[in-house]
Amino acid sequence: MRIDVLTLFPQMIEPVLKHSILKRAQEDKHVDIRIHDFRDYSEDKHMRVDDTPYGGGAGMVLKAQPVVDTLRSIENSDHALKILMTPQGKPYTHERAQTLIKNDHLIILCGHYEGFDERIRAYFDIEISIGDFVLTGGEIAALALIDSVVRLLPDVLHNSESNKDDSFASGLLEYPQYTRPRIFEGNSVPDVLLSGHHENIEAWRREKALERTKERRPDLYEKYIKKQDK
Ligand code: ADE
Repeated sequence: MRIDVLTLFPQMIEPVLKHSILKRAQEDKHVDIRIHDFRDYSEDKHMRVDDTPYGGGAGMVLKAQPVVDTLRSIENSDHALKILMTPQGKPYTHERAQTLIKNDHLIILCGHYEGFDERIRAYFDIEISIGDFVLTGGEIAALALIDSVVRLLPDVLHNSESNKDDSFASGLLEYPQYTRPRIFEGNSVPDVLLSGHHENIEAWRREKALERTKERRPDLYEKYIKKQDK
């Protein structure tokens, strides 16, 4: 997969890509991530990328020209899925991540300032929000999206890091996990996990996943139960 990110703050994104699974996924050529500073494409003599809003009001608005020219500089951008990160977008989910990996090429725009010129929207296919809160810009949101997509690409995770039991993958939150020691500050690991009885362990994990989902995310629980009933 190829991912291009349009941002005014490459320094907010680049360091995160240099660690852990994102780093390995790039080294192993599962993903090619390129960062573009769209200030470089500003035609303004002071390299400005924002301006005051028509009609007045507080704050600055991102201009269309630098964004559109950056998009045009990316080879084969016509065939890419172009994503706008904005709190006004559709809420992001694991399900959406699973559909995004079907694309060979994603282009992601990180907004900044009070907003962007409405005409920018016409150049993008979808708008995504990572939650009902407002970030200072789209960079952290773009990183969350990239991380969640890259780990789902074939062969990015090794067996020991498998994503098949991810919370949400099954429609349920993940079951509780334990590791050594058996007793930590008086708290023991549930006996069933030490039993070596695989069926019982499976059953216990399923029960705990159901319990946890029902308690914390009744919305997901209802959806899951309805799907089972079908
Ligand atoms: N930019 C600012 N806030 C955001 C959010 N919640 N999701 C995506 N992009 C954003």
